[in-house]
Amino acid sequence: MIPAARMRTGIAGLDKMLHGGFVPGRPYIVSGPPGAGKTILAMQFLREGLEGGERCLFVCLEEPPNELKINMRAFRWNLDDLDVLDANSDIRRFEPTPLLEISTEEEPAKMRSIGERIRKSPDFESKEVSVHSLQQLLKTLLVKKHYERVVIDSITALRYFCMREFEEAVTTQSFMRYLAESKVTSLLTVELPDEAEVLAESFLARGEVRLHKLRDETGIKRFVSVEKYKGSSHDDAVYAFDITNAGIVINMTPRAPVAS
Ligand SMILES: Nc1ncnc2c1ncn2[C@@H]1O[C@H](COP(=O)(O)OP(=O)(O)OP(=O)(O)O)[C@@H](O)[C@H]1O
Ligand SMILES: [Mg+2]
Repeated sequence: MIPAARMRTGIAGLDKMLHGGFVPGRPYIVSGPPGAGKTILAMQFLREGLEGGERCLFVCLEEPPNELKINMRAFRWNLDDLDVLDANSDIRRFEPTPLLEISTEEEPAKMRSIGERIRKSPDFESKEVSVHSLQQLLKTLLVKKHYERVVIDSITALRYFCMREFEEAVTTQSFMRYLAESKVTSLLTVELPDEAEVLAESFLARGEVRLHKLRDETGIKRFVSVEKYKGSSHDDAVYAFDITNAGIVINMTPRAPVAS
């Protein structure tokens, strides 16, 4: 039986692995190498919320929203009501001149209103996204829009482009702490090219779903595991999954653990 206090992830197999889904109001991490399926998983999580009438926000740090929209089109999900915040760092971020921080007045755009054409140069504003300014903006947005689900895609981009002001680990931890205190259910994607790497974000995340990519003679195989889940039992097995036209589909036959 699925406990009433759990939030469905949008992926049936993952709900089973998490013994019902996420405990709401906490921050979670989805980690994995490039192309593993982190953004797709995060979008399925938001789509589940939208279907239940929840208010959902996608913070885009890796690609312009129009590109995200095009990439997600194949899945035919209705994402019209999704709020998308364009927090891509400006190309001019490396200039030493003073830059405007991302404004706390910045408004997310509804997915339905985002054009699919490639963004042209006049659309680039002089926008500096620092962790601090993003946190301030989120604070404003959470009060104003009462989001139930928030995705930050990705914390790795935030780390690479936006952390000039403080020490990396301290900044990440304060951001995670803020998310935990804000009581929104959040999913942060993190690039993890090396399984042995310890993520600063993992400390404060209440759970970590890890995607793995392995190559054999037939091609690339994908696997998923739950690395940690505070305050809950969970499935320890590693499962194979496919990315299909319906998104991530987990094959619930347990596999031998993948090497780490
Ligand atoms: N419509 C589709 N059908 C099947 N597979 C797809 C489809 N769209 C994307 N994929 C697969 O999913 C991968 C991308 O998934 P996703 O963008 O979620 O990865 P990611 O982990 O977020 O990667 P990155 O770290 O680069 O952001 C592609 O490389 C491709 O293999
Ligand atoms: Mg991605």
